[in-house]
Amino acid sequence: MIELSHIEKRFADVVVLRDITLRIGEGSVTALVGPSGGGKSTLLRCINLLEVPTAGQIRLGEEKMTFVPGQKASWQAIQRIRRQTGMVFQNFQLFPHQTAIENVMEGLVTVLRWPAARARERAMELLTKVGMAHKADAWPSTLSGGQQQRVAIARALAPSPRVLLCDEPTSALDPELAAEVVDVLARLASEGTTMVMATHDLRLASKIANEVVFLEAGAIVETGSARNIFGAPERERTKRFISTLNSGLSYEI
Ligand SMILES: Nc1ncnc2c1ncn2[C@@H]1O[C@H](COP(=O)(O)OP(=O)(O)O)[C@@H](O)[C@H]1O
Ligand SMILES: [Mg+2]
Repeated sequence: MIELSHIEKRFADVVVLRDITLRIGEGSVTALVGPSGGGKSTLLRCINLLEVPTAGQIRLGEEKMTFVPGQKASWQAIQRIRRQTGMVFQNFQLFPHQTAIENVMEGLVTVLRWPAARARERAMELLTKVGMAHKADAWPSTLSGGQQQRVAIARALAPSPRVLLCDEPTSALDPELAAEVVDVLARLASEGTTMVMATHDLRLASKIANEVVFLEAGAIVETGSARNIFGAPERERTKRFISTLNSGLSYEI
């Protein structure tokens, strides 16, 4: 379980996240939606502490951290939380000079100090799970965007994180390639992977999210089930935003 309580993030005098309180259940999928600049990426980066909140509290499994303005957070505590997260980025960010399987093995070998043979075995299992075993020895530059993103998902899952964080995982992809990534994420969701993802992709969000959080100007405007937020949002602001999502798909259950 992940709990964010009264999280605030400021960059100098600018408040980018304000009073974010969110509970993310084990095995659930939470979609963060909302206009660009609303704070979705910053919120994801606050969960894995790539950005350290200026105030509030995070609980991730057994670990709990409280942030106090002007007080430096402990590096060890940050690492303990970060190691329970995996992150998938919009632009994949594979290491270009490593093959697909080497990308997946990297963290296991360098951070967790696994022997190479064991890391390779685990990497191969994950590449199989994302349908990329046949490209294990391929260089990232020879893979399609959808294939690169599937390798990136395998890499993020390698250390068995408690939560998979995805920042617009399909938005750099053509619809057909996005669909193969949606399929992989949907399968992970059905297997009980806890996920938090920022996305504009209504197909992705409506297919796999249990909970949708609408974020604007750094604050939560509305939260609810995917069915309610996409089908019958309460707030006027949410309604307007949902109607601008150019999905071409009607939301159906
Ligand atoms: N490192 C930073 N320094 C200053 N401002 C930042 C930084 N990162 C993000 N911001 C600001 O925080 C706000 C939220 O950005 P972001 O989290 O990227 O939104 P979203 O992902 O919803 O588009 C924006 O106004 C952005 O300019
Ligand atoms: Mg963003």
